[in-house]
Amino acid sequence: MPDETTRPDETTRRKAEHVAVALGRDVAAPQMASWADVRLIHRALPEVDLDEIDLSVEFLGRRLRAPLVISSLTGGHPDVAAINARLAAAAEANGLAMGVGSQRAAVVTPGLAETYAVVRERAPTAFLMANIGAPQLIAQERRPPFTLAEARAAVEMIRADALIVHLNYLQEAAQPEGDGRARGVLDALRVIVAGANVPVMAKETGAGISFEQARELVGAGVTAIDVGGAGGSSMAAMEAHRARDRGDDAAAALGELFRDWGIPTPISVVETRAASAEVAIVATGGVRSGLDVARAIALGATAAAMGFPFLRAASEGEDALRALIDQTLLELRTAMWLAGCASVAALRGAPVVVGGETRAWLEPRGFEDELRMAARRGR
Ligand SMILES: Cc1cc2nc3c(=O)[nH]c(=O)nc-3n(C[C@H](O)[C@H](O)[C@H](O)COP(=O)(O)O)c2cc1C
Repeated sequence: MPDETTRPDETTRRKAEHVAVALGRDVAAPQMASWADVRLIHRALPEVDLDEIDLSVEFLGRRLRAPLVISSLTGGHPDVAAINARLAAAAEANGLAMGVGSQRAAVVTPGLAETYAVVRERAPTAFLMANIGAPQLIAQERRPPFTLAEARAAVEMIRADALIVHLNYLQEAAQPEGDGRARGVLDALRVIVAGANVPVMAKETGAGISFEQARELVGAGVTAIDVGGAGGSSMAAMEAHRARDRGDDAAAALGELFRDWGIPTPISVVETRAASAEVAIVATGGVRSGLDVARAIALGATAAAMGFPFLRAASEGEDALRALIDQTLLELRTAMWLAGCASVAALRGAPVVVGGETRAWLEPRGFEDELRMAARRGR
C-alpha cells in the first residue's frame, strides 16, 4: 500500500466528502443530556441596561468581542477554501475566534496550504487556531509521526494564535482507513506543548472530555480544552454515511452504532471545570443558540463554539452567516440581561440549576457539590 506521502489525494478527497456529507445528510447525534437541562435563574429586576451588557471575554491572552468560537471545520480541498474565506471574514468583522480544519492535508501536500492560509488573509487581526490531529503525533502503521517542525509549520501556515490538537479516536474507529495506534499519545502531546510557540488547546470532536482526562491534559500542559462533547455533529455518523456510499455496510453499521457514543457537552464542561479552575474551556457539541452559549458559560466554560451551524451558514452565503452571528449574540445578550449579568464574568458566577439526564450523570459521578454550589451562587 502506498503511504500518505505518495497518495495525498485520499486525505484531500475526504475533506470535501466530510463537508458534503455534513451539509447533505443527517449527522446529528441525539441530545441525551441536553442544554435544556441547564436553567439560569430569571431576575425579575435585572438592574442593568440591555445595551450596557458587555459580551467581551479574555481568551488565551486576547480579548474576543464575544465568547463565541467558529469551530474547526475545513480546509485542504480547493472546493472548501471559499467556506474558510467566508468564515474568516465573519470572525474578523465580529471579533470572534476561529479554528481551521485539520491541516494534515496541507503539511503532506504544500500546494493545499492556500486553502488554509486564506483565513489569515481575510482575518488579519482575528484570533486564529491551527489544527493537527493527536493520532498523527505517533507513528501509525503506514506513516511516521508528525514532527514538532511540522506542527510549527501548521501554526506558521495561518500565523495562528494557538494550536489545536484534536482528539478524534471515535472517528478513527469508524473509518476502515482510520489510525488505530494511540499508545504514547499523551507524551507526544507534551512534546508539542513544550515546543510550540503558541498556547495549545486539546479538542475532542464529539465524544467529550471526562474529569480524569481533563486532569491528564492539564498535567500535560495544555492551556485550553475544547470539550467537544456528544449531542451535536457526530463524526461517527459522518463516517457511517461515507461508508454506506462506498458499499461498506459493516463500517456503516459500526459508525451508526456509535453515533451517540460519548460524554454529552454540558456534562463535559462541568467535569472539566471541576478538574481545573484555570484551564480555558471551550464548549462545543450541539450548541445551537446564544442561550446555549450562556448555559455553557454559567457551567464554567470560557467560551462556546459551533461547527455545523457555521458550516451551513457559510455554504449559504455572507448574509446567512451575518444573520446567524447577529441572532446568536442577541440571544446571548438577552439571556445575560434576564439573568441580571452585565458581563461574561458575572454570567460565570450566576446561579444555575441542572436537572434531567445531565444531573442523572453528574450525581453518581460525584459532582453533587459542584451542582449545589452552582445553584446557590450569589446568595
Ligand atoms: C464537516 C466537518 C468537518 C470537521 N473537521 C474537523 C477537523 O478537521 N478538526 C477538528 O478539530 N474538528 C473538526 N470537526 C468538528 C467540529 O469542530 C465540531 O467539534 C463538531 O462539528 C461539533 O460541533 P457542532 O455540534 O456545533 O457541529 C468537523 C466537523 C464537521 C461537521
